[in-house]
Amino acid sequence: MATYSCGRVSDMECGTVREITVGGRTLALARGEDGEYHVLDNMCAHQGGPLGRGYIDGDTLVCPIHGFAYHLGDGSCTMLPALRVPTIPVRIDGDEVLVELD
Ligand code: FES
Repeated sequence: MATYSCGRVSDMECGTVREITVGGRTLALARGEDGEYHVLDNMCAHQGGPLGRGYIDGDTLVCPIHGFAYHLGDGSCTMLPALRVPTIPVRIDGDEVLVELD
C-alpha cells in the first residue's frame, strides 16, 4: 500500500468531479454536494466511459457517455444494481485529500 495525495480540500467546489492520475491509475475524484470526498475508478462499468468527466447529481456520479449514475458511497449503479464501480477509501489530513492504493 502506498499513500498518494489527490490535492487540497480547498481546491474543489462541492458538487464537482475531476479525473486524476495517481500511482499510475486514472481515478475519478468527486466532492459531493455535502462536501464529502469520494474516489471511484474512472472507468464506467457500462462501456468504460470516463467518470471523472461526468457530473454530480445528488449523491451520485453520472457518466458523461450514456448517463448511468453511480452512488458516490459504494459505487453501485442506480439503474442496474448488478453494475458497480470500484471505490477507493479517501482520507483527509489537514487540507490534503489522500488515497491508499496497492
Ligand atoms: S459508458 Fe458510462 S453509461 Fe455508458
